[in-house]
Amino acid sequence: MISEKMQEAINGQINAELYSAYLYLSMSAYFNSINLLGFANWMRVQTQEELVHAMKFFDHVNERNGRVLLKPIQGPTTQWDSPLAAFEAAYKHEVEVTRMINNLVDLALKDKDHATNNFLQWFVSEQVEEESSADAVVQKLKLMGDAPGGLFLIDQELGQRVFTMPPAEGAAAAQ
Ligand SMILES: [Fe+2]
Ligand SMILES: [Fe+2]
Repeated sequence: MISEKMQEAINGQINAELYSAYLYLSMSAYFNSINLLGFANWMRVQTQEELVHAMKFFDHVNERNGRVLLKPIQGPTTQWDSPLAAFEAAYKHEVEVTRMINNLVDLALKDKDHATNNFLQWFVSEQVEEESSADAVVQKLKLMGDAPGGLFLIDQELGQRVFTMPPAEGAAAAQ
């Protein structure tokens, strides 16, 4: 069974992951509105990832006989000045999520909750990927600058992203 404090912190993380989904869905809508359908697709896939993250935490609390208590989800920003501004915001958001995951790890270690610590390690790795994939697009957009056709090319590339369900919890350790 998880501690009261851990349960509360994970409930907070479920909220943060659902907010992340909401934020990226809002970015997807923004990209749709400016006809960058590849960018919109990338953000839509990211939304699906965030929903999976939320469900992983949801399942973990239930498996450990904790109680999931859902809180209101904050409304996301709906407009950005440019594709670069949106991706910079996405990157900044992921850095913040990483900080939250690290705090959860600190709490698990303090609680000597090894099961939760083990569970959280998947997220520690995932955050490395999350930060780097958002930053990769930021760097591409900066590199492109005002080059004609650059945005079109990046849009084509981001349109290729497809959602893949991450392996079930524990599968990596069992391999
Ligand atoms: Fe996430
Ligand atoms: Fe990811």
